[in-house]
Amino acid sequence: MSTQTGELAIAVISNEGRRVDPPAIPAGMKVLDVGCGAGPTLIAHCGDRYSFGIDIDWNVLAAGKALTEKIGFTCGRAETLPFRDCTFDFVIARVSLPYTNIPKSLSEIRRVLKPQAQLWAVLERPSLPFHLGLYRRPRFYVLLPYIFFNTALFHLFSISVPFVDGKYRGYQTVAGLKRALRKTGFEEIKVVRSIHLITMARRSDTG
Ligand SMILES: C[S@@+](CC[C@H](N)C(=O)[O-])C[C@H]1O[C@@H](n2cnc3c(N)ncnc32)[C@H](O)[C@@H]1O
Repeated sequence: MSTQTGELAIAVISNEGRRVDPPAIPAGMKVLDVGCGAGPTLIAHCGDRYSFGIDIDWNVLAAGKALTEKIGFTCGRAETLPFRDCTFDFVIARVSLPYTNIPKSLSEIRRVLKPQAQLWAVLERPSLPFHLGLYRRPRFYVLLPYIFFNTALFHLFSISVPFVDGKYRGYQTVAGLKRALRKTGFEEIKVVRSIHLITMARRSDTG
């Protein structure tokens, strides 16, 4: 099964256990998906409008472009979003923020959201490697000291640091996530624990 087929399967097959859905997004809302991959979330939930997706990986964007013309795909980083202030009514970030500098990405997401607009994001709990069996892979132990350090930094101080390859990995706690969202200018923060951490937060009016 190809990558995009796998992602799409998670997005559109109703009994796929790993699927995590955003809430219904009212028609007319302008939506951005940060770390969109091939666009499975937008394809499944925003097919009634033209929406926007950004990802760092050209290959997944090319796969998405082959699937739909209703998404404006952009190659770029969550930490430096190439959109004007107050552009979007709703931002999705499904399992992408853990691979970025989270405080910088949240700050950029806040900037491009309109006041009172909402972020829906899925993050990764420290228990996830056990659910997914990642601990069976030798590479997990190579990265473990860094992952532990980056997870603790985010939990305690809302800081993300990259590994030596410049990439970010780590897990998020409810307390760390809420603190980072508050510091960045979000309010009405709700976090639900499942295998993942699912959060909804509203951009504050001020700042
Ligand atoms: C686990 S995949 C999730 C893809 C999609 N959101 C979904 O739910 O199927 C994580 C995605 O984040 C993207 N990504 C990683 N670092 C990024 C960054 N700094 N800025 C934007 N996208 C990034 C990856 O290329 C990848 O497509």
